[in-house]
Amino acid sequence: MKQFHLSIVGFGTVGQGLAELLVSKQDMLRVNYDFEVVLAGVATAHSGFIYREEGLDIPLLLELAAHRRPLQEHPEVKHWDTALEGIEAIGQWGDVLAEVTGTNLRDAEPGISHIRTALSRGMHVITANKGPGALAAAELSALAQKHGAQLRMESTVMAGTPVLSTIREGMAGVHVTAIRGILNGTTNYILSAMAAGRSYSEVLTEAQAQGYAEADPTADVEGYDAVAKTLILASLVFGQSLRLEQVVRQGITTITQEQMQKAIDSGKRIKLIASLTQKEGTLEAQVEPVELPLSDPLARVDGVMNAITISSDSLAEVTVIGPGAGRLVTGQGLLADLIAIAQSK
Ligand SMILES: NC(=O)c1ccc[n+]([C@@H]2O[C@H](COP(=O)([O-])OP(=O)(O)OC[C@H]3O[C@@H](n4cnc5c(N)ncnc54)[C@H](OP(=O)(O)O)[C@@H]3O)[C@@H](O)[C@H]2O)c1
Repeated sequence: MKQFHLSIVGFGTVGQGLAELLVSKQDMLRVNYDFEVVLAGVATAHSGFIYREEGLDIPLLLELAAHRRPLQEHPEVKHWDTALEGIEAIGQWGDVLAEVTGTNLRDAEPGISHIRTALSRGMHVITANKGPGALAAAELSALAQKHGAQLRMESTVMAGTPVLSTIREGMAGVHVTAIRGILNGTTNYILSAMAAGRSYSEVLTEAQAQGYAEADPTADVEGYDAVAKTLILASLVFGQSLRLEQVVRQGITTITQEQMQKAIDSGKRIKLIASLTQKEGTLEAQVEPVELPLSDPLARVDGVMNAITISSDSLAEVTVIGPGAGRLVTGQGLLADLIAIAQSK
């Protein structure tokens, strides 16, 4: 049976979700896929990087994290003050790095340094962090190729709902001509509630109370989160590296109840749509509110759900609908990437 040494850098919502899945799916990975994962390294900003070649006790790590205790309290671990030092040191033993620190669209740090360091040492990388993919997917893919490593980022686009693997593997051989998607659950939740007659500010406050929206909702409501996912799709699906400012962007903050009602009265729904369209050799990228007729499958996707419609030559339109965030949902996207790496070895 194959064995993989995994390190998880970033042990918040998603990192812990992946760790939970490693426990609950352990037998299934052995029986169905003939491999086992040894969680050997874990890092956070506060605790630095801990590593134990023989494997860490996942329930103990989850317990320490739940009580905000230092992860170094785990017995018999090597410790480095920063994740970067740890990755540099373990590069020769580690097989896979799961990079799940926070998204930063200015310079993609600290994730991009973690990923560059791991790939340069021949480690495979799986990530849910949108910054590195949005700003440097081409550079990182080239680095991975140079060192014989894989870089997979399924969970950056719609968390565990398969988009990249659907296009790359399920739709292998098709020529994708356009993509349109609802790629942000928070804004879809707000727009769906507004369509039911509620006000923007009331729903935003409720979404924040329920944990769907951040205390600072700018990244979601101004469209930046959807832009990041659009940049990742531009690079990985169309092979084009666009800059942030090349995506036409408009958020949902100026949509009024009157506009919403007018759209409903004419049999339409307003959705925040991220789109990529190939036109005469150039790739047009947009994130903006669009009025969709009810005949469009995206018009009926409500609440925090995400969806994407892929247009191509030989399959016409394929729409994938599913959850786009959450502890286990995002952990599942990482697990799928891990299984893909294990199967390709
Ligand atoms: N949550 C979702 O549903 C979801 C869905 C799709 C994609 N994502 C992406 O997945 C990533 C993780 O999201 P999350 O919700 O798990 O975030 P989170 O709960 O805020 O956790 C982030 C983790 O990263 C750690 N960290 C920050 N800087 C670090 C550094 N320099 N070295 C080592 N660790 C560092 C933090 O450490 P401390 O605990 O010490 O602060 C924390 O453990 C983000 O990029 C996010 O955009 C999330």
